[in-house]
Amino acid sequence: MSDKLPLGPNSPPWWQLIRWIKSPLSYQKECAQSYGDIFTFRMTGFPPFVVIGHPRGVKEIFSQAPHNFDVGRSNYIVQPLVGDNSLFLYDGQRHQRERKLLMPPFHGSNLESYAQLIGEIASQVAAQWQEGQRIIVRKAMQEITLEVIIQVIFGIAEGERYQQIKPLLAEMLDVTDSPLGSSFLFLKFLQQDWGSGSPWGRIKERKKQIERLLQEEIEARRFLAPELGKDVLSLMMSAQDEEGQPMTDAELKDELLTLLFAGHETTATMLAWAFYEILRHPSILAKLKKELAGSENLAPLEIAKLPYLNLVCQEVLRFYPVIPIIFPRLAKTSMEIMGYHLEAETWLTPSIYLVHHREELYPEPEKFKPERFLERQYSPYEYFPFGGANRRCLGAALAELEMKLVLAAIISQYELSLAQKKSIKPQRRGLTMAPAGGVPVICQQKRRLVVKQLQNVS
Ligand code: HEM
Repeated sequence: MSDKLPLGPNSPPWWQLIRWIKSPLSYQKECAQSYGDIFTFRMTGFPPFVVIGHPRGVKEIFSQAPHNFDVGRSNYIVQPLVGDNSLFLYDGQRHQRERKLLMPPFHGSNLESYAQLIGEIASQVAAQWQEGQRIIVRKAMQEITLEVIIQVIFGIAEGERYQQIKPLLAEMLDVTDSPLGSSFLFLKFLQQDWGSGSPWGRIKERKKQIERLLQEEIEARRFLAPELGKDVLSLMMSAQDEEGQPMTDAELKDELLTLLFAGHETTATMLAWAFYEILRHPSILAKLKKELAGSENLAPLEIAKLPYLNLVCQEVLRFYPVIPIIFPRLAKTSMEIMGYHLEAETWLTPSIYLVHHREELYPEPEKFKPERFLERQYSPYEYFPFGGANRRCLGAALAELEMKLVLAAIISQYELSLAQKKSIKPQRRGLTMAPAGGVPVICQQKRRLVVKQLQNVS
C-alpha cells in the first residue's frame, strides 16, 4: 500500500488547468491511458485532486460515511451564482437538513403533477417551428427547460413577474453558458465588478434583479398561503425541519437559483445529445416512433414508462456525462482507495466518463447502443449519471421524466433530420459538456398531431 498521491501528468499546473477547461474528457482519457484507473491532477489555483475511473474506487468512495467527506467546499466556484445558502455549498447536518426540506417536491405524486405541464411546455415551444426551418436543438431545449424551471419550480406561469424574470434568467444563464463565461467561474481574478458594462458586473446586477423578483413572489405567496400550489417553491415554503422551522427567505431564494443552475443546462444538454444520437441512428428513431405510435392515449406518466424510450435515455446518460467529474470529495479522515492510503485533506472524485466508457463494462463503449441495458444490470458504482451517496442529484427523477416527456412530445409530432453530416463533439459550456454547435436540425414536417386534429375537425 502506498501513502503517496497516485501519479498524474507532470506538465506545468497552468497547462493542466488549460487542458482541463478546454477538453476535460479527452484529457481524462489520455491520463487514464498513461496512469491507469486512479491518477492525480495538479492545476493552478486548485489543490491536487485524485480522479477515479474504476467501479471499485467509486464503491469505496460512495460507501464511506457521509461525514468522512466535505463536498460543499469544493463547489465554491458556483457561490457567486447561487449565493451562500445553497445545497451545493453545505456539508454535514446543514446539508442533511436542507436536502430533507428540498426532497419532497422531487418525488412521488408531486412529480406526477408536473408531468402534464412538461409535455405541454415541450409542445408549445415546438409549435413555433416551421417546416423547413433550421433549429439549434440545444437552444430549443434550453427554452423548454427554462420554462419548466420557471413554471414547475418557481411556480410563475404568467403575469408581469413572469415577463420580467424570464429574460433576466435567460441572460444570466447565457453569460455563464459560453466558453468565455466558464472561464469567469474558474478564474477568480476575472470576477471584477466594473459596473454593468463588464461581464461580471452584469452577472451580479442581473442576480440582484432576479432576487428582488423572487422576494416579491415569496411575499405575494404568503398572502395566499392556504392556497399554495404544488410547484416546488410552494412546497419549499410549506416545508419545516425537525425543529419546526421553515426555510428563511434567503434560503428559499438561493435554493431556487441552485435548482435553476443545477437543472436547466444539464437537462437541456442531455436532451440535445439525445436528439443527436436518435437522429443519426435511423433504426433507433424508427423503434422509438413505433413505440410512441401506440402511446396516443397514454397518461404522461405511462409514456415515461415506455421501455425503449427508457433504454434510449439510459444510454444517453451513459454516453455523455453532463459534467466531466462529479462533485469532488474532500477526505476528512485518512482512507484506503484502490490500494492507496490517502491522507485526510485529499481531494477525490469519481469520473462518470471514465467508468461509463470502460470496455469490460460496456462493450464497444464508443457505440451508442440502448439495448446494452437489456443485456446487463449495472450497479450504482458502474452506472452513476446522477452521482451518488448523500450528494446524488436531487432532481434525478424530474430530469429523467423531463427527458422522456420532451422526447416523446417532439418525436411523435415532428419529422426532424440532422442539418449536417459531420459528427459533433462535446465542448465545455459553463459547467457542463455540451454538443459543439448545439445540434442543428431541419424541421421536415409537423406530423401526427396536426393530422389527427384535422381528422377530428372533418
Ligand atoms: C439530465 C439532467 C441532470 C444530470 C445528468 C444531473 C447530474 C448531477 C450530478 C452528476 C450531480 C452531482 C452528484 C454527486 O456529486 O454525487 C448533481 C447534483 C445535483 N443536481 Fe443534478 N443533474 C441533472 C438535472 C437536475 C435537475 C433537473 C435538478 C433540479 C431541478 C438537479 C438538481 C441537483 C442538485 C440540487 C444537486 C446537488 C445535490 C447535493 O449537493 O446534495 N439536477 N446532478
